[in-house]
This record gives sequence, C-alpha cells and structure tokens, in this order.
Amino acid sequence: MPYRLTVLGTGYLGATHAACMAELGFEVLGLDVDPEKIATLQRGELPIHEPGLEELLRRHLATGRLRFTTSYEEAAAFGDVHFVCVGTPQKKGEYAADVSYLDAVIESLAPHLDRDCLVVGKSTVPVGTAQRLADKLAALAGPQVELAWNPEFLREGFAVQDTLKPDRLVFGVASERAEKILRDVYGPLGDVPIVVTDFPTAELVKSAANAFLATKISFINAMAEVCEAAHADVRQLSLALSFDERIGGRFLNPGLGFGGGCLPKDIRAFMARAGELGADQALTFLREVDAINMRRRARMVDLARDLVGGSFHTKTVGVLGAAFKPNSDDIRDSPALDVALTIGQQGGAVTVYDPVALTNARKAHPTLDYADSALDATRHADVVLLLTEWQEFVELDPERVGSVVSARNIVDGRNALDAETWRAAGWNYRALGRP
Ligand code: UDX
Repeated sequence: MPYRLTVLGTGYLGATHAACMAELGFEVLGLDVDPEKIATLQRGELPIHEPGLEELLRRHLATGRLRFTTSYEEAAAFGDVHFVCVGTPQKKGEYAADVSYLDAVIESLAPHLDRDCLVVGKSTVPVGTAQRLADKLAALAGPQVELAWNPEFLREGFAVQDTLKPDRLVFGVASERAEKILRDVYGPLGDVPIVVTDFPTAELVKSAANAFLATKISFINAMAEVCEAAHADVRQLSLALSFDERIGGRFLNPGLGFGGGCLPKDIRAFMARAGELGADQALTFLREVDAINMRRRARMVDLARDLVGGSFHTKTVGVLGAAFKPNSDDIRDSPALDVALTIGQQGGAVTVYDPVALTNARKAHPTLDYADSALDATRHADVVLLLTEWQEFVELDPERVGSVVSARNIVDGRNALDAETWRAAGWNYRALGRP
C-alpha cells in the first residue's frame, strides 16, 4: 500500500512540498497551526506568489489527494511519513536560528503517534538539531517512530520545478528502513542522484550549499568594488570568468547582492553554530561575505545621491523593484526595499513600484510611497533606480520613461539593462561595478 504523507507547516516550503507530493500520486494531508492559512489553501488560494503552484494546489484539491487540517491528532492518525517544513528564522538580535517551531511540531505530534512512522525534517537547521530532535521523538513517542533529515534546496520562483526535478536528494538516516522509505517516496521522481548519509552531514549540506552560493555572489561583488576603483567593467569580467567551466557563470551576476528569507539568515546561523562548536575560525570568511553584500546596498545609495547632486533633499527618486529577486513577491531582507528606505531616511521622496510585491511592501513599510506602474513610479523622478531585475523593467523603453522623468538619470542596480541603448536615449546611465 502506498504511503500516506503529511506535511507539517504549510508556508513556502510546506505548501510546495505538499502539492508536489500529491502530483507524484500520494495522498497528502497538510497541517498548519494558522487556521487562516489553512482556510486559504483549502479554497485553492496561495498566500504567496509562486509560478505553477496554485495550479497544482487546485488540481489536487480536486483529485482529493490533497487536504488540509489544523489537527495534529488527525495528522498522526493519517500519516506514514510526516514531513516537517516549518521555518527557522533568525533570532531577534542574534545570528543564531530560532528552531522553536521544530520543537513545537515534535511536541505536538509525538503524543498522538501510536503506530510505525517516519518523521522527516526538511527545514534548514543548525547542525546537531536532527539528533536532538530524534532523541526527543524517541522519548515522547517510543521506538516505533524514527527521524530522518532530508534538506530542501528549492529556489523561490522555481519551487515546483526544483521539487519535481531536483538536482540531488540528500537523506540523513539512522537506519536502512528509513532510507528505504525515503527511496520509495521519491521513487516517482526517476533518476535523481541520492546521497545517503548521517544526520550532521545532511544538515551541513544545506548550510554549505547556501554559504557557497552567497560566497559566489559576494565574490563577484567584491570584484565589482575593485572594478569601480580601477575603472574596469565587472560585467565583462564576470562573462570572461564564466567560460571557465571550473568557475561557471551561474550566481556570478554582480549587483545589489543577495537578500531573501534564506541566504542572509542561513550564513549567519551557520557562523553562529560553528562558533558554538568551536569551529568559528573556519567560517570567519562568511562575515566578510555578509559585509561585502551589505556594502553593495550602501554603494547604491551613494551612487544615487551623487547623481542628484550630493543630497536627496527636495529630490524625487523612482524605485523599480521591491521583491528580493524577480518572479517572487517575497520582500524579506530585500536589498531593493533596504535601499528605498535608506534614501527615504536621507530626505529623498521615494516612490516604489513592483509587479507583484507591492501588497507585501505596503504592509511592511507603510511610510514609503508606492505607485501602480513603472511609469507612475518614475514620474518627475530626478533619478531612477532599478533594484530588482523583473523582465518588465528590462524591457522598459528608455524614451517612454525619459518622457515622464525630471532628469534622465538611472542607476542599474542589477546590471540588467543595455547601457548603450539607454545612453543613446540621452540617459546618464550608471551601474554597480562599471565605468
Ligand atoms: C536560495 C538558494 O538558491 C536555495 O537553494 C535555497 O534552498 C534557499 O535559498 P532563494 O532565496 O529562493 O534560494 O533565492 P536565490 O535565487 O538563490 O537568490 C538569492 C539572492 O541572490 C537574490 O536576492 C538574488 O537577487 C541574488 N543573486 C543571485 C545575485 O545577486 N546574483 C546572482 O548571481 C544570483
């Protein structure tokens, strides 16, 4: 008989995992402690913007393979495999991750478990968490319940694709039985490389992957700083590096740097955990990775201020982009909003437009001004800032935008525009890391 799956925590990761597992043919029960979130999902609506996901959700609400609940009792009775997908945010005022939601899931689920099952952690956690949770689970639920760790690598904007066609699977397991169950569950994905390992290695794979990606972005942004000082062009530098197969061109786009709900908090939590383990020296370079990343935001503000004559007072600034990256409505630690807020604090009159992140931005930062189109955001602007590289902005017509601004000044924070086209239209075009 095929396994019945539950997904505990229906945020970004959980909602995607639940819908994708239903797509693979499983019966899936999603659980969240937030009744409003559950009601929304049950109506076939997504609280987040994620291409293709709402379609999957609706399809499997209709097939009946996907259901939602707020009851741990129901989840415990239903599931053979329980995927834990709750968030592990950065602790307030600290670098470390807050894993209390994970503990809460185990404490809520375990007392109801009265049959064989596997609990599978997918959340990003400080190394050592899985063993601690396994011990807790054993104490609360007994030996028939086992834990496994199976980190998730999905990117926002590509979450469905990354879940249904992952480039690898990592199984942190303590028994062959757990390995077999995970192999069965992911079997329908076909030929995917699988690394079977212990708990701490599985946990570390995720931290290491995000640390590497963040380092790659900060590396090219450090090169951008040197390029600025040396009057060189970081975009051409990046292009030339990309042909070296050992380096590769992905995650080598220079610009405003990384934000979002994962990379910034994950590298900080990784440093904090290494410190606790006495291995802090090994990760001191991540402090620099973080610092380079934050400096790009400051540099963006400086460039914009230079372009309007040295002060933002009485100046109007049109900001294109609020999401931390295109094809997402996520504004967590968004470099774009960070820049917009700083310029506002420095006296500039800032108006922000984003194709899908405006609702979230308005809620989080009600003091900023917002517009409902790129043209409205740039109207009467003394300088235009492109801070998230939505395709809509890449395709903007420099003449059209030029006809509504006060001055044809633009800073391309994502190296996304064609400099020649904009300059030919009379724009004073500046970009991070380029002459
Ligand atoms: C990331 C990891 O990619 C994913 O594997 C992990 O599971 C979660 O964290 P995500 O946060 O969705 O995914 O975003 P990602 O596409 O990795 O981009 C992160 C940030 O880096 C964005 O702000 C993006 O604009 C920036 N970025 C990315 C660059 O500045 N330059 C690049 O070359 C690539």
